[in-house]
Amino acid sequence: MSNKSTMETMIFAWLLVILTTTSPVKGKYYSGSHKIDVPTTITETHLHFFLHDTLSGDNPSSVLVTKPNRTTAQENNNIVPFGAVFAFDDPLTEGPDPNSKVIGNARGLYASISRGPDLTLLFNGDLEFTSGEFNGSSIVVVCRDPLVLVKEMAVVGGRGKFKLAKGFVLNNAVYFNTTNGDAILEWHVTVFHV
Ligand SMILES: *[C@@H]1O[C@H](CO)[C@@H](O)[C@H](O)[C@H]1NC(C)=O
Ligand SMILES: *[C@@H]1O[C@H](CO)[C@@H](O)[C@H](O)[C@H]1NC(C)=O
Ligand SMILES: *[C@@H]1O[C@H](CO)[C@@H](O)[C@H](O)[C@H]1NC(C)=O
Repeated sequence: MSNKSTMETMIFAWLLVILTTTSPVKGKYYSGSHKIDVPTTITETHLHFFLHDTLSGDNPSSVLVTKPNRTTAQENNNIVPFGAVFAFDDPLTEGPDPNSKVIGNARGLYASISRGPDLTLLFNGDLEFTSGEFNGSSIVVVCRDPLVLVKEMAVVGGRGKFKLAKGFVLNNAVYFNTTNGDAILEWHVTVFHV
C-alpha cells in the first residue's frame, strides 16, 4: 500500500470514529446534552456606520413585497400601511454620504406592524460586513422599530466573529424624506460576543 492510500485509509477511519461518536442516536433528532464551561470574559465591540434605505428611483434598495388590499384613512397617505412588507438590501457606509466607503450590507425584511397612528416597523435584518476585521461576519437585528428619529434596537445574534452576539443599537435618522421614505440611519452598535 502506498503512503498516500494508507493516509487516506487512516483519515477515513478517523472520520468514521468522529461521525459515529457525534451523530445522534439512530431514530432520534438530538444528541446528548452536556454541560460546558462558559468563558469568564466576553468581547465587547463597538461599531459605527450608516445605513442607506432608498425606496425612490430606478434602483431602490428597498421594495414593497405586498400590502393588504384595503383603503383605510391610515393607508391613504402612508408609505408603510399596516401589513405592508418590504424586502431590503441596503448598503452600509463609513460616513453619512451615500458615496462614502461601503463596508457592508443589511439584508432582510421589514413589515408595518402597528394598527394605530404610531407607525412601527418590525426590522428583521442580517448586517454583514465586507471589509476590515469583521469582513464576512454579521450581526442579526430583530426588533420593533418605531419610526422616530432616535431609537434603540436589539442585536439578537450574529455570525463569524460575532457568533453568539447579543447587544444593542442606538439608531439615529440623519435623513428621512417623509414623501418617498428614503432614509439614512446612523448606527451606534454595542455588541458582546465570544
Ligand atoms: C381590492 O379591493 C377592492 C374593493 O374591495 C376590489 O374591488 C378589488 O378587486 C381588490 N383588488 C385585488 C387585487 O384583490
Ligand atoms: C472579504 O472577504 C472576501 C471573502 O473571503 C474576500 O473575497 C474579500 O477580498 C475580502 N475583502 C476585504 C476588503 O478584505
Ligand atoms: C423628498 O422626496 C421628494 C419626492 O421624491 C422630492 O421631491 C424632495 O426633493 C425630497 N426632499 C428632500 C429634502 O430630499
